Amino acid sequence: MRPRTPAVAYDTDTGVLLLDTPHTSYSAYVGREDHIPIHTYWGPPITAEDATYLATATSEHLASEWPCFRSASNGHEEYPLDGGLQFGRSALTMEFPGAIRSVEWRLSRHEITAGLHHRDLALWFEVRHHDLTVTMHYRVYDDSDVIDRWVVVRNGSATDAVDVHRLDSAAWVTPEQERHRMSHLTGRWAAETQLRQIDLTDSHLVLESRRGITSHHANPWFAMDDGTATEEFGRVFSATLHWSGSWRMLAQREMDEPAQVLFGWGHEGFGPLRLEPGEMLKTPVSSGLFTTDGFGGTSHTWHEYALRHVLPGAEEIRPVLFNSWEATGFDVDEASQRALARQAADLGCELFVLDDGWFGRRTGDRVGLGDWWVNSDRFPDGLQPLIADVHALGMGFGLWIEPEMVNPDSDLYRAHPEWTYHFAGREPNLMRHQLVLNLARPDVVDWVFGELDALLSANDIQFVKWDMNRPFTDTGWPEQPDRQGRLWFDHVTGVYAVIDALRRKHPGVAFEACSGGGGRVDFGMMARSDQFWVSDNTDAVDRRHIQHGFGQLYPARTMSCWVTDVPTFINRRRVPLTYRFHVAMAGVLGIGGDLTSWADEETELARRLIGQYKEIRHIVQHGRLHRLGAPSRSASAVQYVTADRRESVVLAYQEAQQYDNQPRPIRLRGLDPDGTYRMDGDPTLSGAALMGHGITPRLTGDYASTLIHLELVP
Ligand code: DGJ
Repeated sequence: MRPRTPAVAYDTDTGVLLLDTPHTSYSAYVGREDHIPIHTYWGPPITAEDATYLATATSEHLASEWPCFRSASNGHEEYPLDGGLQFGRSALTMEFPGAIRSVEWRLSRHEITAGLHHRDLALWFEVRHHDLTVTMHYRVYDDSDVIDRWVVVRNGSATDAVDVHRLDSAAWVTPEQERHRMSHLTGRWAAETQLRQIDLTDSHLVLESRRGITSHHANPWFAMDDGTATEEFGRVFSATLHWSGSWRMLAQREMDEPAQVLFGWGHEGFGPLRLEPGEMLKTPVSSGLFTTDGFGGTSHTWHEYALRHVLPGAEEIRPVLFNSWEATGFDVDEASQRALARQAADLGCELFVLDDGWFGRRTGDRVGLGDWWVNSDRFPDGLQPLIADVHALGMGFGLWIEPEMVNPDSDLYRAHPEWTYHFAGREPNLMRHQLVLNLARPDVVDWVFGELDALLSANDIQFVKWDMNRPFTDTGWPEQPDRQGRLWFDHVTGVYAVIDALRRKHPGVAFEACSGGGGRVDFGMMARSDQFWVSDNTDAVDRRHIQHGFGQLYPARTMSCWVTDVPTFINRRRVPLTYRFHVAMAGVLGIGGDLTSWADEETELARRLIGQYKEIRHIVQHGRLHRLGAPSRSASAVQYVTADRRESVVLAYQEAQQYDNQPRPIRLRGLDPDGTYRMDGDPTLSGAALMGHGITPRLTGDYASTLIHLELVP
């Protein structure tokens, strides 16, 4: 299909909205009487006449006689409002003076604007009984089938506040079909982004985070198909949310109706958030995507969208880093870090990251968080001597911080106990012996920025690992009970404000987003980070499953993966070094082991594999990912192909040998069928043969793995 020029249109006569992306269309109409927007279409391209016909047919269908107890429009609303005949969950629930919740609105105008690579449509609705405007926004891109949506609410009243109980970014309606199979990502600490599939029946399904962070337990993404889509083929609807705090995805479906998926910030019952007279609130973006190219095509489009429109500096090649956490834990000092740095440089690492333990009186997890001054027992002359050595070894220097936290045993807490979330008269929970700072407070945001700015100004630092090691509890703000409901929103925007300001002031510093591993992996954080620390679990076997889920939505360019020591602290498993490397080479390679205990052969092997990674990393970090089978005990692989199809790399794995089985041929994807490819000393084969027949990787025994580099013969 030839890609079309994207467009947004709104017809004031018919009330029909039509969005065209390069390969899809999306349509809705605004009801004539009640001004409720009704969804009609999301799929392959249609014409404006089609969209008008669908609007007429749908409105006639909804206007027909419906039995009592049934609402014609439920499940079809483009953005369901509380009130009227709304029996499902609504995307917008507000409480007006007099404890009135129902919303009635009129469309007052629409606006079409264009940016360099996108077109926007905004629909302005005026609430009839209160001076309040709700604007629904849509964005389409020249080079992506992803559609962005968000909502802005403005309380124009000079006197009356309103309470926002729910303000979703979007409702995504997927058509009624034989099955509604929903793929989603679940997990827990050290077991993030596990891909699961369930059937949505005539019911509600809620995925959410109630923890103040995106969470290890659920990631804000779903993909819906009719049960027939495969990795390569089939219609798939999917969506995500650009948000790094609590969130909710609620899928609802009545018998014989479409599925309607509400996506927004804030968990169920989070607030409410009080919108004072004159205040406005802009939701995070929810992005949606329809493809006919199966789950693989869905991931390609998400990855390309992320690299083009979300991730800053996406064109960069991420360096191979060494992180000292698993080597030294909290026992850091200048001498031990210097020894590790020398060995890391000798292996070919390009960035040295000093993790937890360098600040305040930090000697373990009970003390020091909040005191962002250099520990002078451990670093008598500050960090600069170590940094200078690291630079002299040819590496950049990175530093770990956890700015949203405080230990009760810290100078900061002794000075400002009121800066933490807590309820008056209640004992706060001390998870990991620490408390969460109230970043809904502007003074705390300013203080955090000031500390980090001073740190980055005083030291020549190239990389910051921003960690966040416990969920919110005790979410009180005793001095400002009226603002308490806002903290779920304002904490996140406070974090964003600090990182954005630091990036502006220190443009040479890259950021790694971490929350005890993958607790804050989302497009909101991606927009202000350079990579994610995906999981504290670095066991290569578990990690393949975590990476498989991560890659459904997020590109390899953002997936930081370390090779660490065995047995791993998570499960005591021992996996050979080559296998560990090959798993970590599927993303942004890093090393996290105690190099002082590595044998010479291990160091030699690591040096060779790091060298090999540097030769192929442009393909992994910037190429297109093809999943050649899901991780399992028998052979499967991941493949990356450059945009010009000239180069490809295959990482094939066999976890366990069964009997005397040999791996079956693995069919490659995305190559030029008419081209001929050279493979690491093997005979050349045509792209057609490589994709039609495949390659048979040499994998014998347990934890066998191989890397195959393919180059198009000119
Ligand atoms: C959790 C992170 O995920 C680890 O990599 C490490 O930085 C520790 N925190 C340090 O406390």
